[in-house]
Amino acid sequence: MDHLIIVNKKCPFDEAVKPCLVNFGGTHIKLEKTAAIFLQRMFECARSEGIRLKLFSGHRSPEYQQTLWQQSVNELIESGMERGQAEKTAERSLAKPYFSEHHTGLACDICTPECDDTQDDFDKTPQGKWLMKNAARFGFILRYPRGKEAVTGYIFEPWHYRFVGIKNAEYITAHSLTLEEYAECLAQKEERK
Ligand code: DAL
Ligand code: ZN
Repeated sequence: MDHLIIVNKKCPFDEAVKPCLVNFGGTHIKLEKTAAIFLQRMFECARSEGIRLKLFSGHRSPEYQQTLWQQSVNELIESGMERGQAEKTAERSLAKPYFSEHHTGLACDICTPECDDTQDDFDKTPQGKWLMKNAARFGFILRYPRGKEAVTGYIFEPWHYRFVGIKNAEYITAHSLTLEEYAECLAQKEERK
Protein backbone atom coordinates (compact mmCIF):
# COMPACT_ATOMS: atom_id res chain seq x y z
CA MET A 1 0.00 0.00 0.00
CA ASP A 2 1.16 3.55 -0.80
CA HIS A 3 1.79 5.11 2.60
CA LEU A 4 1.64 8.60 1.07
CA ILE A 5 -1.92 8.15 -0.22
CA ILE A 6 -3.90 11.38 0.12
CA VAL A 7 -7.53 11.36 1.16
CA ASN A 8 -8.98 14.80 1.86
CA LYS A 9 -11.95 17.01 0.98
CA LYS A 10 -10.80 17.05 -2.67
CA CYS A 11 -9.68 13.42 -3.01
CA PRO A 12 -12.15 10.76 -1.88
CA PHE A 13 -10.96 7.31 -0.88
CA ASP A 14 -10.73 4.95 -3.85
CA GLU A 15 -12.51 1.77 -2.82
CA ALA A 16 -10.33 -0.21 -5.24
CA VAL A 17 -7.56 0.30 -2.66
CA LYS A 18 -7.75 -2.60 -0.24
CA PRO A 19 -5.51 -2.02 2.79
CA CYS A 20 -4.32 -5.13 4.59
CA LEU A 21 -5.97 -4.58 7.97
CA VAL A 22 -5.00 -6.17 11.30
CA ASN A 23 -6.30 -5.76 14.81
CA PHE A 24 -4.15 -3.43 16.87
CA GLY A 25 -2.55 -4.91 20.01
CA GLY A 26 -5.42 -7.08 21.25
CA THR A 27 -8.07 -4.42 20.66
CA HIS A 28 -11.01 -4.46 18.24
CA ILE A 29 -9.49 -1.47 16.40
CA LYS A 30 -8.08 -2.23 12.96
CA LEU A 31 -5.10 -0.56 11.29
CA GLU A 32 -3.11 -1.07 8.10
CA LYS A 33 -0.53 -3.80 8.78
CA THR A 34 2.67 -1.71 8.66
CA ALA A 35 1.07 1.21 10.49
CA ALA A 36 0.05 -1.24 13.25
CA ILE A 37 3.62 -2.56 13.62
CA PHE A 38 5.09 0.94 13.90
CA LEU A 39 2.33 2.18 16.23
CA GLN A 40 3.05 -0.78 18.52
CA ARG A 41 6.76 0.12 18.54
CA MET A 42 5.92 3.73 19.30
CA PHE A 43 3.57 2.81 22.16
CA GLU A 44 6.23 0.47 23.63
CA CYS A 45 8.92 3.13 23.44
CA ALA A 46 6.60 5.70 25.06
CA ARG A 47 5.76 3.18 27.78
CA SER A 48 9.44 2.61 28.50
CA GLU A 49 9.67 6.36 29.12
CA GLY A 50 6.65 6.35 31.46
CA ILE A 51 4.09 7.56 28.88
CA ARG A 52 0.96 5.49 28.36
CA LEU A 53 -0.82 6.03 25.05
CA LYS A 54 -4.20 4.71 23.93
CA LEU A 55 -5.56 4.25 20.41
CA PHE A 56 -9.28 5.05 20.29
CA SER A 57 -9.94 5.05 16.54
CA GLY A 58 -8.19 3.58 13.52
CA HIS A 59 -9.72 2.16 10.36
CA ARG A 60 -13.30 3.32 9.78
CA SER A 61 -15.64 2.13 7.04
CA PRO A 62 -17.60 4.72 5.03
CA GLU A 63 -20.76 3.41 6.74
CA TYR A 64 -19.30 4.05 10.19
CA GLN A 65 -18.07 7.49 9.10
CA GLN A 66 -21.66 8.23 8.00
CA THR A 67 -22.90 7.31 11.49
CA LEU A 68 -20.33 9.61 13.10
CA TRP A 69 -21.23 12.37 10.67
CA GLN A 70 -24.94 12.12 11.40
CA GLN A 71 -24.34 12.01 15.16
CA SER A 72 -22.15 15.10 15.02
CA VAL A 73 -24.61 17.10 12.88
CA ASN A 74 -27.56 16.02 15.04
CA GLU A 75 -25.79 17.10 18.24
CA LEU A 76 -25.11 20.53 16.76
CA ILE A 77 -28.73 20.87 15.62
CA GLU A 78 -29.90 19.89 19.12
CA SER A 79 -27.64 22.60 20.53
CA GLY A 80 -29.60 25.16 18.50
CA MET A 81 -27.91 25.40 15.06
CA GLU A 82 -29.81 25.19 11.82
CA ARG A 83 -28.81 22.27 9.54
CA GLY A 84 -26.62 24.22 7.09
CA GLN A 85 -24.61 25.80 9.87
CA ALA A 86 -24.40 22.47 11.73
CA GLU A 87 -22.96 20.73 8.65
CA LYS A 88 -20.45 23.50 8.05
CA THR A 89 -19.32 23.34 11.67
CA ALA A 90 -19.12 19.53 11.70
CA GLU A 91 -17.04 19.52 8.54
CA ARG A 92 -14.27 21.53 10.18
CA SER A 93 -13.26 18.52 12.26
CA LEU A 94 -15.03 15.51 10.78
CA ALA A 95 -14.86 14.15 7.25
CA LYS A 96 -17.93 13.09 5.32
CA PRO A 97 -18.04 9.39 4.35
CA TYR A 98 -15.52 8.48 1.59
CA PHE A 99 -13.50 11.64 2.37
CA SER A 100 -11.86 10.40 5.57
CA GLU A 101 -8.31 9.09 5.63
CA HIS A 102 -9.50 6.77 8.40
CA HIS A 103 -10.73 4.59 5.49
CA THR A 104 -7.07 3.85 4.62
CA GLY A 105 -6.22 2.32 8.00
CA LEU A 106 -3.25 4.72 8.22
CA ALA A 107 -4.89 7.26 10.54
CA CYS A 108 -4.65 6.82 14.31
CA ASP A 109 -6.60 8.80 16.90
CA ILE A 110 -4.71 8.72 20.17
CA CYS A 111 -5.70 9.78 23.71
CA THR A 112 -4.62 9.43 27.33
CA PRO A 113 -5.34 6.04 28.99
CA GLU A 114 -8.30 7.25 31.07
CA CYS A 115 -10.05 8.71 28.02
CA ASP A 116 -11.67 7.18 24.93
CA ASP A 117 -12.35 10.14 22.68
CA THR A 118 -10.94 13.32 21.16
CA GLN A 119 -9.27 15.69 23.64
CA ASP A 120 -9.04 19.30 22.49
CA ASP A 121 -6.16 19.91 24.91
CA PHE A 122 -4.31 16.64 24.10
CA ASP A 123 -1.27 18.66 22.96
CA LYS A 124 -0.94 20.00 26.53
CA THR A 125 -0.81 16.51 28.09
CA PRO A 126 2.48 14.59 28.61
CA GLN A 127 1.18 12.09 25.99
CA GLY A 128 0.48 14.77 23.39
CA LYS A 129 3.83 16.45 24.03
CA TRP A 130 5.68 13.15 23.77
CA LEU A 131 4.01 12.41 20.43
CA MET A 132 4.80 15.81 18.95
CA LYS A 133 8.45 15.24 19.82
CA ASN A 134 8.78 11.56 18.89
CA ALA A 135 6.11 10.43 16.40
CA ALA A 136 8.23 11.10 13.30
CA ARG A 137 10.88 8.58 14.49
CA PHE A 138 8.19 5.92 14.09
CA GLY A 139 6.83 7.18 10.77
CA PHE A 140 3.88 9.23 12.04
CA ILE A 141 2.94 12.87 11.45
CA LEU A 142 0.52 15.20 13.17
CA ARG A 143 -1.86 15.34 10.21
CA TYR A 144 -3.88 18.50 10.98
CA PRO A 145 -1.48 21.02 12.53
CA ARG A 146 -2.51 24.32 14.10
CA GLY A 147 -2.95 27.16 11.61
CA LYS A 148 -3.13 24.92 8.53
CA GLU A 149 -6.90 24.68 8.12
CA ALA A 150 -6.69 26.45 4.74
CA VAL A 151 -4.38 23.69 3.46
CA THR A 152 -5.71 20.55 5.15
CA GLY A 153 -9.39 21.57 5.38
CA TYR A 154 -9.46 20.73 9.11
CA ILE A 155 -8.91 22.55 12.37
CA PHE A 156 -6.01 21.57 14.65
CA GLU A 157 -6.53 17.93 15.71
CA PRO A 158 -3.84 17.15 18.31
CA TRP A 159 -5.07 13.52 18.56
CA HIS A 160 -4.96 12.54 14.86
CA TYR A 161 -1.67 10.99 13.71
CA ARG A 162 -1.05 9.56 10.27
CA PHE A 163 1.46 6.88 9.23
CA VAL A 164 3.59 7.90 6.23
CA GLY A 165 6.84 5.98 6.85
CA ILE A 166 9.91 7.19 8.76
CA LYS A 167 11.77 9.02 5.97
CA ASN A 168 8.68 10.97 4.92
CA ALA A 169 7.60 11.69 8.49
CA GLU A 170 11.02 13.02 9.46
CA TYR A 171 11.16 15.37 6.46
CA ILE A 172 7.55 16.58 6.89
CA THR A 173 8.05 17.23 10.62
CA ALA A 174 11.48 18.89 10.26
CA HIS A 175 10.08 21.29 7.64
CA SER A 176 6.69 21.85 9.37
CA LEU A 177 4.79 20.73 6.27
CA THR A 178 1.37 19.20 5.84
CA LEU A 179 0.96 16.03 3.80
CA GLU A 180 -0.62 18.11 1.01
CA GLU A 181 2.42 20.45 0.94
CA TYR A 182 4.84 17.53 0.97
CA ALA A 183 3.03 15.86 -1.96
CA GLU A 184 3.28 19.16 -3.85
CA CYS A 185 7.06 19.30 -3.14
CA LEU A 186 7.53 15.75 -4.41
CA ALA A 187 5.49 16.50 -7.57
CA GLN A 188 7.62 19.59 -8.31
CA LYS A 189 10.81 17.61 -7.80
CA GLU A 190 9.51 15.00 -10.24
CA GLU A 191 8.71 17.73 -12.83
CA ARG A 192 12.25 19.13 -12.63
CA LYS A 193 13.76 15.75 -13.48
N1 DAL B 1 -11.35 13.94 11.85
C1 DAL B 1 -10.87 13.56 10.55
C2 DAL B 1 -10.72 14.75 9.65
C3 DAL B 1 -11.77 12.53 9.91
O1 DAL B 1 -12.95 12.50 10.24
O2 DAL B 1 -11.29 11.82 9.05
ZN1 ZN C 1 -8.80 10.95 13.22
